Amino acid sequence: MRKLTYFIACSIDGFIGDPGGDATSMVRFVDEEFFAFLKAEYPETLPTHGRRALGVDDLPNKRFDTIIQGRSSYDLALKEGITSPYAHLREYVASRTLNESPDPNVEIIADDLVGKVRELKAEDGDFGIYLCGGAQIAGELLDEIDELVIKTYPLVYGAGMPMFGSAFAISEFALESVRTFGNHVLVRTYSRKR
Ligand SMILES: NC(=O)c1ccc[n+]([C@@H]2O[C@H](COP(=O)([O-])OP(=O)(O)OC[C@H]3O[C@@H](n4cnc5c(N)ncnc54)[C@H](OP(=O)(O)O)[C@@H]3O)[C@@H](O)[C@H]2O)c1
Repeated sequence: MRKLTYFIACSIDGFIGDPGGDATSMVRFVDEEFFAFLKAEYPETLPTHGRRALGVDDLPNKRFDTIIQGRSSYDLALKEGITSPYAHLREYVASRTLNESPDPNVEIIADDLVGKVRELKAEDGDFGIYLCGGAQIAGELLDEIDELVIKTYPLVYGAGMPMFGSAFAISEFALESVRTFGNHVLVRTYSRKR
């Protein structure tokens, strides 16, 4: 069984972006030390165009071979003219409005999102599935999430886009590791308690 991992950047108070979802205020915390961590531990979570610009395009995937995004998150790349933002992964985009995929590497999931994710999780393989977000699909897939990797930046938003766009319900996770960085960023890994 492959794991579905929600790997997400958030504020101290648990928001993944401002009320519109914009997370650019977090970007400045990707300094030399934190970038070295991402490169070493989660190279496949860096988008292809960023990897190219930084000269790290050839880094092999470490944990994931598949990514799932909601259409609004994918739109951020599309608006820049990038149709395959994670070309080094199998890309799935959940959408009921994108009738045709803009790129051969991107498969659209229009129906039965949970069923498709269960199918992907049931595949053989050592690599997991990177749930990129945003809030809406993370909320819909909450019950399927096996692992959380939460990059917490030392910012309080007060309001914003929540980690999960779902109704109140309690799920329990066990803390597996905590890593702290000199710039006060924290990365916590949790596994689901089933
Ligand atoms: N902080 C971070 O690390 C991080 C990471 C990722 C994203 N984000 C932020 O999150 C924001 C977007 O989040 P969001 O919650 O607005 O949207 P989202 O979850 O990215 O995408 C929502 C869209 O996904 C599609 N969708 C949702 N459920 C579906 C289902 N069951 N079947 C088929 N399609 C489905 C729909 O697309 P259609 O309307 O096309 O049907 C829906 O409008 C962005 O602004 C981004 O910056 C932050």
